[in-house]
Amino acid sequence: MQHVLIPLLAVGYAMAEPIQVLNLSFPDPAVIQTDQGYYAFATQSNNVRVPVARSDDFTSWTLLEGTDALPGPYPWWVQSDDAQVWAPDVIQRDDGRYVMYYCARSGQGTHRHCVGAATSSSIEGPYTPEEDAIACHSDEGGSIDPSGFLDEDGTRYVVYKIDGNSINSGGTRHPTPIMLQKLGSDAVTPDGDPVQILDRDDADGPLVEAPSLLKVDGTYYLSFSSNMYNTLAYDVSFATASSITGPYTKAQDPDAPLLVSGDGSDVGPLGGPGGADFLDDGTKMVFHAFRDGQSIDSGRGMWVVDISVGDGKITLQ
Ligand SMILES: *[C@@H]1O[C@H](CO)[C@@H](O)[C@H](O)[C@H]1NC(C)=O
Repeated sequence: MQHVLIPLLAVGYAMAEPIQVLNLSFPDPAVIQTDQGYYAFATQSNNVRVPVARSDDFTSWTLLEGTDALPGPYPWWVQSDDAQVWAPDVIQRDDGRYVMYYCARSGQGTHRHCVGAATSSSIEGPYTPEEDAIACHSDEGGSIDPSGFLDEDGTRYVVYKIDGNSINSGGTRHPTPIMLQKLGSDAVTPDGDPVQILDRDDADGPLVEAPSLLKVDGTYYLSFSSNMYNTLAYDVSFATASSITGPYTKAQDPDAPLLVSGDGSDVGPLGGPGGADFLDDGTKMVFHAFRDGQSIDSGRGMWVVDISVGDGKITLQ
């Protein structure tokens, strides 16, 4: 039977490479599977605040030209003339309504980013923002990179990053904690105080950010990026825990980082991979990387990759 298995293995290895699916600006992508296909949302680009892309098969993706999923009007806390909407993430609530978590520049005080939520009956939006922000932490640098999570017991959460490196100066490295906020069943109202579940270590450079949470066989997997997004040092790693509130243990070499500059893809070596998001079933991941493989100057496109998750490890398939 060996002569049959060998060609199959060869196909398996060929699929291990990430595939570039959008060679246009689509940073910090987040993905969701719906009855109408797969959808991805990204940081403001393509002349809209929240661009949307769609796919039937996860391999062939199309930008919905001109669609802005979060066109406003914005709530009171957003600096509406310069909203700087970054890193949206969409989940579907039990009642069928879609919830978008996003971060935007605050018009208040220090003008740091806050995390908010917006809802829509249609996956493509427009999403209507909730009145109040979910998290700000303005004095600690603001709050960015939200990502929703539904636990097996039906409890809703959002994870996000306190943007401590935004207030770094003179060699001081502020903490960049990844926070876990429990939500009510409406998936937009905070329930209690947020809990810190990760922070940077020296090996992460100035920061950890862009969290995405997944649960497989009772283990929580938290993906994150380290280093600066506009450098070739940006990457994707993960940490694991047996309880949602932690403690989370960062995976070590050779299991992590999962994606680094120089790793192969169908269009050549990756540059600055990061901002990863799990598909909820744990079989796929999306992430961004430099379009030209070298620098952020020509923007960040979207790549997809099949993954397998189990025994405390994430591996590219
Ligand atoms: C993607 O776009 C970048 C920037 O224009 C270009 O350098 C690169 O060659 C393109 N990649 C492919 C595979 O066409």
